Amino acid sequence: MTVEPRPALADVTRGRLLYGGDYNPEQWPEHVWREDVELMREAGVNLVTVGVFSWARIEPRPGERDFGWLDRVLDLLDGSGIGVCLATPTASPPPWMGARHPETLPRDPAGATVWYGSRNHFCASSPVYREHALRITADLADRYGDHPALRLWHVNNEYGTFCWCDTTARHFRGWLHKRYGDLEALNEAWGTAFWSQRYGEWEEILPPRRTQYLTNPTQELDFRRFTSDALLECFTAERDVLVKRTPNVPVTTNFMPLFVGQDGWAWAEHEDVVSVDLYPDPADPFGPDGAALGALVQDLTRSQAGGPWLLMEQAAGAVNWRGVNHPRPQGLTRLWSLQAVARGADGICFFQWRQSRQGSEKFHSAMVPHAGRRSRTFRQVCELGADLGALAEATGTHVPARVAVLHDWDAWWAGLQQGRPSERLAYTEPLRAWHRALWERNLLCDLAHPEADLSDYALVAVPHLYLLTDTALDNLAAYVRGGGTLVCGFFTGVADADDRVREGGMDARLRELLGIDLVHEWWPMDEGDVQDLVLRTGDPGAPDDPDGACGPTAALWREDVETAGAETVAVYRGGELDGRPAITRHTAGAGTAWYLSTLPDPATLRALLGRAADEAGVRPTLAGLPSGVEAVRRGELLFLLNHRGEPVTVLLPAPATDLLTGRRYGRELPLDRHGAAVLREAPPAPGGG
Ligand code: GAL
Repeated sequence: MTVEPRPALADVTRGRLLYGGDYNPEQWPEHVWREDVELMREAGVNLVTVGVFSWARIEPRPGERDFGWLDRVLDLLDGSGIGVCLATPTASPPPWMGARHPETLPRDPAGATVWYGSRNHFCASSPVYREHALRITADLADRYGDHPALRLWHVNNEYGTFCWCDTTARHFRGWLHKRYGDLEALNEAWGTAFWSQRYGEWEEILPPRRTQYLTNPTQELDFRRFTSDALLECFTAERDVLVKRTPNVPVTTNFMPLFVGQDGWAWAEHEDVVSVDLYPDPADPFGPDGAALGALVQDLTRSQAGGPWLLMEQAAGAVNWRGVNHPRPQGLTRLWSLQAVARGADGICFFQWRQSRQGSEKFHSAMVPHAGRRSRTFRQVCELGADLGALAEATGTHVPARVAVLHDWDAWWAGLQQGRPSERLAYTEPLRAWHRALWERNLLCDLAHPEADLSDYALVAVPHLYLLTDTALDNLAAYVRGGGTLVCGFFTGVADADDRVREGGMDARLRELLGIDLVHEWWPMDEGDVQDLVLRTGDPGAPDDPDGACGPTAALWREDVETAGAETVAVYRGGELDGRPAITRHTAGAGTAWYLSTLPDPATLRALLGRAADEAGVRPTLAGLPSGVEAVRRGELLFLLNHRGEPVTVLLPAPATDLLTGRRYGRELPLDRHGAAVLREAPPAPGGG
């Protein structure tokens, strides 16, 4: 049997970047729709997501259908040449579902019902919920499968609901049965000899509900694995209904950014188009929650997609869910949108098109805010539409990276347990710090699963993977011995797939690779504590690092490691670990493996990763840029993005033309505060260098 290739993002973009947002016409009288379409055209919008939360409108009572309004919306959009990303409305079941079928509502760990009256109130294991969800999905596909406006299916919205009810318990047992085969294996994997937790019957097993004291950590880990899979079953069931009826229309679901609840690697394999929502904090544009978070999420999404991806949602101004919700300074939405395009996005969309006047999100910004078409926001929305229109040639092109940062949900989940050495160690802190260090050095990286083929990467960074499978460990060993450079962060390779601690405080294969004999103890640090480091060999301090001058320090975590062959690059100074190795480097086979047993300060981390990259032959996209200026090459284009709050001048490697303005530059390119340029470089002069 031959399998037809699935349609892809290229079938939606058709050679131009997508631009638009969530469109919720059911919140508005029809005369507003006409203005909507007019404004969409003015803004250059070419794709809108319709119907995400329209289940109660389409199915006002069980089994009834009201499609008339949606027919008119799709026809109107089509008449204006605007494509539709049509959503299955299954993220928010109508009140009748919860009222008639309370078993579809989720239960919290203490058994309390999570009621309707908001959204995402469904139990992924409920057959009743699934049946209704598939029925409305099928009806939508039957009705609109041939509609000329239909470009893309958007299944559900930001999957991520957890449930601990009895139906879930049965489903969980089935999942465990498949994973372990028999109870003996489960007892072994969960370590139930501890605290008399041994199970004698499958029926005794529960999701990790509220307990008296600490819950079994492997039970917690398996429940996270199970929940990700249960939600994925909901997604793939809807997807299959759609694929059967519309084999030529690609299917996506929008991920939350760097979201803990789903195994994003496993999910991405089931999508035709990978899309993500992204809401960096405009109050902190150059801080960790601003452009740095954006770059990380974008690199992750591109890596999940294995190519171009779609920014499904961002805000045109303030969100409404932070403590204090700041609007975006002039130019920031453009800058962050271009950052996403630079890092592989083939479309830029917003939540939402028109700002609601009622409901929980009426203070969340939109492309057309309450202030309407004369607003500063709408003007910027139109300008961004024009900018994206000028970048059609970026569509479908690739963003090649020579560095991989390893990331794995299993390791993240395993590290969430209670009763560990430090509650201050959050999985994402080292991940974000390391990625940020690479980003600030303009060393472009992919993210990769620890079992993925790493042979194309010159440098592999592992900020912190507490859990590593045997396959992953063999993979890392083969990578290094084959000539790769590995930089490995603390508290890595500690546990196996069942969350069983490896002997020696770290897996023996990894210790051998790193030239480390054993880890005596972990020495986590309190908030505000600073540990001095002394560099022994090499000079990881770069002269352009202003904050490198104070001498290297570290925070969060320390380890007392015994080396066996590794060279000591830095030692701890002061305190209990005075003089002990903090950072090491070891040659293994044809490659090199570094170990960072602590979290160095940002300048030192930048310098260390910079040195490792340099030794591995990886050069920054552009050298000598002012700090805060990001450079990314995508296809033939060079993106320059000024994240600073003041103007800068960038020295160009070659004369170039900015596609956004049509202006030509020789050697110097001025960039405004939050300014950006997308350059096509002039070919080198004949005979010239
Ligand atoms: C997203 C969600 C949207 C909207 C938005 C507000 O998480 O998908 O529906 O709620 O947040 O920021």
